[in-house]
Amino acid sequence: MAERKMGQNSVTEMLEEDHKEVNALFGSYEGADGERRDRLVHEIIESLTKHTRVEEEILYPFIRAEVPEGEQIMDEAEREHQEAKEAMDRLRDLSPTDPAFDDAFQALRDGIQHHIEEEESEVFPKLVQAADDAALVELGSRLAQAKALSPRTPRPPS
Ligand SMILES: [Fe+2]
Ligand SMILES: [Fe+2]
Repeated sequence: MAERKMGQNSVTEMLEEDHKEVNALFGSYEGADGERRDRLVHEIIESLTKHTRVEEEILYPFIRAEVPEGEQIMDEAEREHQEAKEAMDRLRDLSPTDPAFDDAFQALRDGIQHHIEEEESEVFPKLVQAADDAALVELGSRLAQAKALSPRTPRPPS
C-alpha cells in the first residue's frame, strides 16, 4: 500500500467518523426528554441528511463504476437511504408529543443502524479492495469539500 501523507484521510475513515457521531446521537436520545430530545432529533436529521447526500454525490457513483457488483450494492444502499429520508420526513411532520413519534424515530434508528453495519462490514471493505490508497484519499478530500458546501437543513417548525 502506498505511503499516505499526514492529515490525509481516506473516504472510509471520514464516513466511519460520521457513523460514530450519529450512533452516539442515537444513544443520547435514550433517556433524553423535552427540549433536549427535540434538539437531538434535529441534530440527527441534519447529520444524516448531510452524510447521505455527500455519499450519494461523491462515493456511490465511484463504487458503481469501480467496485465489482457495485451497481447492485449501490441500488440497495440507495434504497436504504430513501427509506431513511421517508422516515425523516415523517418525523418532521409529527409533533414530538405525538404517540407515533417514538415509532417513527425507532424506525429511522433501526434502518440506519442496519445500513451503517452493512456499509462498514460489506461495502467499505469491497471499496478498499477495489481502489488504491491515492483514490481513497482523493475521494476523502472531495467529500470534505462537498460537506463544507452542504446547505443546512431548515429547522423543523416548533
Ligand atoms: Fe449510506
Ligand atoms: Fe454511511
